[in-house]
Amino acid sequence: MKKTLALGLLALACIAPAQASAVQLNIAHRGASDARPEHTFAAYDHALTLGADYIEQDLQITSDGVLVVMHDETLTRTVRGPAENCTGRVDSKTLAQLKTCSAGDWGKFAGGAYVSEKIPTMEEVFQRYGKTVNYYIETKQPEPGENMEAKLLALLDKYDLRESAVTDWQVLIQSFDANSLKTIHAMDPRLPLVFLGSLNPTSIQAVREYGVGIGPSFGGVTKANVDLAHAACLNVHPYTVNTTADIQRMLELGVDGMFTNFADRLETLLGAKAAPGLTGASIAAAETRRCRGEQKDVPAQVGGSVPATLSLTMGAPASFEPFIPGVERVYTAGTTAKVISTAGDASLTVSEPGHLTNGAFTLASPLGVTIAPNAWSGPVSNADAAITFTQPIGRTEPLRTGTYAKTLTFTLSTTNP
Ligand code: G3P
Ligand code: CA
Repeated sequence: MKKTLALGLLALACIAPAQASAVQLNIAHRGASDARPEHTFAAYDHALTLGADYIEQDLQITSDGVLVVMHDETLTRTVRGPAENCTGRVDSKTLAQLKTCSAGDWGKFAGGAYVSEKIPTMEEVFQRYGKTVNYYIETKQPEPGENMEAKLLALLDKYDLRESAVTDWQVLIQSFDANSLKTIHAMDPRLPLVFLGSLNPTSIQAVREYGVGIGPSFGGVTKANVDLAHAACLNVHPYTVNTTADIQRMLELGVDGMFTNFADRLETLLGAKAAPGLTGASIAAAETRRCRGEQKDVPAQVGGSVPATLSLTMGAPASFEPFIPGVERVYTAGTTAKVISTAGDASLTVSEPGHLTNGAFTLASPLGVTIAPNAWSGPVSNADAAITFTQPIGRTEPLRTGTYAKTLTFTLSTTNP
């Protein structure tokens, strides 16, 4: 979606070419409607496995006022079953009548794996998929007094989809009937609406007043009018684009998504650019808000720091057992050092131990000291190092009464701070 701010039709005529869309949406037209009977759960389920960003629903209304998902106003083409229930106009039948019919026993699907598929209600679609999918819902031939729009919005509220429709375009509402869209816009101007019709300067100027996009028949789409729509911050979602060549051409024209019976073909051509999961819809929503100046993204950094630290804490002073004169033995004593180092390396050393002394008297053998570990190859916090002292006493070594002591210096250092 181009980021140019809308400035009016005069401005639209002299803008630079549009940038590439932030995302190009894969809209499964009536579900995966080539491989499965259109507008059945089988068609929607399959579309989702093929990578569709949206599953499309066309709305009709029953004689008892229930929104059902079917393209045609009549049952002739896609519905089979008892004639009294399953022929004629959808709006002449109750929901109970329609539920006696098959929606998957016609055309190339006749007698096949989908004969048990029923005409879904819009509510059943929401019950089945909840917030796990994005919906692209068409108010189809709404008649005055049917309140198709109000019924749809009531269902959005019942299934908690209104806010996610507004913020993430989890629901897009489309219609060939501009008045139907304007009715919805009057009820909630935040809802994202797409007008189905020609893409030209006149429609662009009209739709930008209430909608977020235009869905034209793909045959008339040109780069110039895609750019014009983008300059007005409108998305372009052509229908119904089925051959690989046409899909590729639409992608190259920079459309923001397209309706296709072959979600798999579009997904293949999108390749790595296909939006993962539900994200395509919210990316498109955010990009449109940015284009309209309704969303600004300002980077702000957050961070912290660590001061260079070398810390050495020695444990309690080590103390040998009393030395026993006339007995040959090596005495041991120990303590622990705690090391904190933020350096890339650190090592712990000790000064030359020398000999324990008792006033002017000195032991014959030098004091021994070992440190384990005595080196670290990266930062450590409160790492323990065991300090072990050894003191040999000989069998004939004279020992003077008193206390023997020595002060040593331990050094923690680094070459890689
Ligand atoms: O809604 C886009 C496209 O589906 C319009 O054509 O007749 O298939 O509803 P139709
Ligand atoms: Ca449609």
